[in-house]
Amino acid sequence: MAAERVLTCNVGRPEAKTVRGYRESGGYEALARALRMQPEEVIEEVKKSGLRGRGGAGFPCGMKWSFVPRNIEKPKYIVCNADESEPGTFKDRLLMEHDPHQLIEGCVIAGWAVGASTTYIYIRGEYTLAARVLEDAIRDAYDSGILGTSVLGSGFRHDMFVHCGAGAYICGEETGLLESLEGKRGQPRVKPPFPAVVGAFGCPTVINNVETLCCAVHILKRGADWFKSIGTDERNTGPKLYAISGHVERPGTYEHPIGVTFQELLDGCGGMYKGRALKAFIPGGASAPMMTAADAGIRMDFDTLAKAGSMLGSAAVIVMDETTCIVRSTLRLAKFFAHESCGQCTPCREGTNWMRLILQRIERGDGSEADLDLLAGVVPNVGGISLCALGDAAQGPVKSMIARFGDEIRDNIRNRRYPLPRQPFFDFGAVA
Ligand SMILES: Cc1cc2nc3c(=O)[nH]c(=O)nc-3n(C[C@H](O)[C@H](O)[C@H](O)COP(=O)(O)O)c2cc1C
Ligand code: SF4
Repeated sequence: MAAERVLTCNVGRPEAKTVRGYRESGGYEALARALRMQPEEVIEEVKKSGLRGRGGAGFPCGMKWSFVPRNIEKPKYIVCNADESEPGTFKDRLLMEHDPHQLIEGCVIAGWAVGASTTYIYIRGEYTLAARVLEDAIRDAYDSGILGTSVLGSGFRHDMFVHCGAGAYICGEETGLLESLEGKRGQPRVKPPFPAVVGAFGCPTVINNVETLCCAVHILKRGADWFKSIGTDERNTGPKLYAISGHVERPGTYEHPIGVTFQELLDGCGGMYKGRALKAFIPGGASAPMMTAADAGIRMDFDTLAKAGSMLGSAAVIVMDETTCIVRSTLRLAKFFAHESCGQCTPCREGTNWMRLILQRIERGDGSEADLDLLAGVVPNVGGISLCALGDAAQGPVKSMIARFGDEIRDNIRNRRYPLPRQPFFDFGAVA
C-alpha cells in the first residue's frame, strides 16, 4: 500500500502554522478551486470521493452536506466536532496542533458548499494547546483575507470561532454538542429533526469531525478520483489516521490508507511491547467490540470491521498483551460509560451502572459464574432503546468480552483466580 502522508504532510513543518508557511506546501489552493466551482459541484465532488465521516459513524460526508436546505432565509452553520473525548482517541489533536490551516480550509470549503457563513470549532476543554494554535491561525487567516467579509476576494463571507467544551464525553455526540454550544447542559436531543435541518440555534447545521473536514481539502485539491484510488474499495476510501495505544513499542498517531490490516498497523509502530504475545485489541475506540489475536489480519475499514462484529469508530486502536486481565480492562471502560451517561434514558443510566457493578464484583474475586449470565442478560437491555448512541457504545466492550473471553473468565472464576495480578502498565525499569 502507498505510504504517502496526506493528512499529516505538515506534521514536522512548524512553519505550516502560519498562512505563509501553509501556502508553501499548496495550502489554500483547494479553497481557491472550490470558490471557482458552484457549491453543488463541490458537494458532488465530495460525494463522488466516497468520503465517510471520521468521527465514528462513517456517514457519507457529501450526502450530509446535500441535506442542508438551499433556499432558506435562516443562517446556516458549520460545526467542527473537535471534542475527541473517547478513551484512546487522539488523532484530531495532532491535526489541530500541527496543521491548523488545513482544518480552517476544510471548514471554509464546507461553508461554501452549503452556504454557511459561520464555523464553530467545538474543542474539548483539555486541548488548551490545540485551541491556542487554532486561535492564532484564525487570526492570521483573518489578516490574510482568508476569513472575514470576502474569502480570497470572492465576496463570500465566512467567520470562525473556537468554542471550548468543559470535559464531558456526551458533548461529542452531535446534538449534545449543539446544546452545549448554545450554553445549555450537554444532553442529546431527540432525532429527527437532524442537525442538517434544525441544528445550532434552530438553524441548518453541518457537523463534521476534524479529520473529515481535513480530508475534504485534499479531495478539492487533487480530485475525487485520486481520493477514491486510496483504500479498500469504493465504500472505504482515502487516507486515515489511526491512534495506537496500549502494549506496543511506539504508541502514537499513524497515517495509512484506510483498510490497512491490524498486523500492518502493529508492525508500523514497532510491534508488541517487549515482544509479548497479543491477547486482544480494540479497533475503534472504547465503544468498539474487542477482537482477539486470531483477527490480526483484519482490514481496518468501516465495512470489514462491521462484518466482523466490531467497528472502525474513531480508529483508536487499543492493544492488549498476554498480561492483561480482560475483566479489569472491560471494567475500566464500563466505569467510563457509567460516569459519562448523561442520565436522560433509564436503560443507559441504570444499565451502564449495573454492568460496572457486576464487572467490579467479578474482578475483585467475589463473582460467580451466574454473574456472567446476569451480565449477558443486562447487555441487550442497555442499547438500541435510548436517545443517543452512548447506550449502544457501552454494550460493545462487555458483549465482546463475554463472546470472546467467556470461557477463560468462567475458568478463572471456577478456580478462584480473581483478582489477577496487576502488571505495571509499562515496565521502564529502574529510574536513574
Ligand atoms: C457519545 C458520543 C460521543 C461522540 N464523540 C465524538 C467526538 O468526540 N468527535 C466526533 O467527531 N464525533 C463524535 N461522535 C459522533 C458525532 O455524534 C457525529 O456523528 C460526528 O461528529 C459527525 O461527524 P462526521 O460525519 O464527520 O464523522 C460521538 C458520538 C457519540 C454517541
Ligand atoms: S443514551 Fe445515555 S448518554 Fe445518550 S441521551 Fe440517553 S442517557 Fe444520555
